[in-house]
Amino acid sequence: MTETVQTNRSVETEAMSLAERLREVSLSGHGRGDGWGSSAEAEAAEPQYSTAYLRGGLNRAGIAAQVAQHFLMYEALEGATAAHRERLGEDFVLWMPELHRLESLRNDAQYWMGEGWENEVRTRYTTPGIKRYVDRLNGVAGSSYPHFVAHHYTRYLADLSGGLMIAKMFRRSYDMAGSEGTTFYDFPAIDDPRAWKDRYRSLLDTMSFSAQDQDAIVEEVALAYQLNNEAGRDLEERFAEYKA
Ligand code: HEM
Repeated sequence: MTETVQTNRSVETEAMSLAERLREVSLSGHGRGDGWGSSAEAEAAEPQYSTAYLRGGLNRAGIAAQVAQHFLMYEALEGATAAHRERLGEDFVLWMPELHRLESLRNDAQYWMGEGWENEVRTRYTTPGIKRYVDRLNGVAGSSYPHFVAHHYTRYLADLSGGLMIAKMFRRSYDMAGSEGTTFYDFPAIDDPRAWKDRYRSLLDTMSFSAQDQDAIVEEVALAYQLNNEAGRDLEERFAEYKA
């Protein structure tokens, strides 16, 4: 019943825009998980893989493992993007090819794994956690617009925020002069990421989602963080194989 849903939404929630709610759930998402976040708990768990990723401590297979997870995830997300584009045509306001990562990930995968990269990605590097993430995307993102929005927001805003910092640290610590192998982190068509993200958040707030759909988006963003962390834990578990 509508009344029940309404009473479950707090006064604060009612007063917040969708973008504000997503930002709030995102900030708490940064504090949980596998070491990409910043909570005391995460640090106490000593995330070896993610620390090594940023500090030049992985071998080639270790770096390939992260590229592979990104490839599988963006293949599903950008497959869902294509489905919405097909369905909505010009009305699809989240049609933003400047964001698309799949082509750069193909190049990066080839750089780290060579010609046989796709087979490696789909066998050796397909871990249970990334499979769950991909299954979720395939299950909901192409068929439900609110769920798609949640995953679109979570990934691309991460890439345009923490991703830019990660790229700098990664390139410096592995002594990489150019972008080869790390083109995933580059958005050549976005000159000012901060302004771009501000426009994106404003766009979210112009979308006319029902209260129920907004709740579904918020919940799905929280789930996206969880799925991302689970995929990250698989990399942690294989650290012995991946350390330089
Ligand atoms: C080392 C890892 C990470 C760092 C250093 C980092 C850092 C940041 C920073 C500084 C911002 C704020 C940018 C701004 O004010 O515009 C941000 C925003 C964001 N991050 Fe991360 N992040 C990391 C990992 C992640 C991960 C793993 C995810 C999700 C899977 C994620 C998702 C997001 C999202 C969705 C936002 C946008 C929040 C909003 O403004 O609505 N981040 N991140």
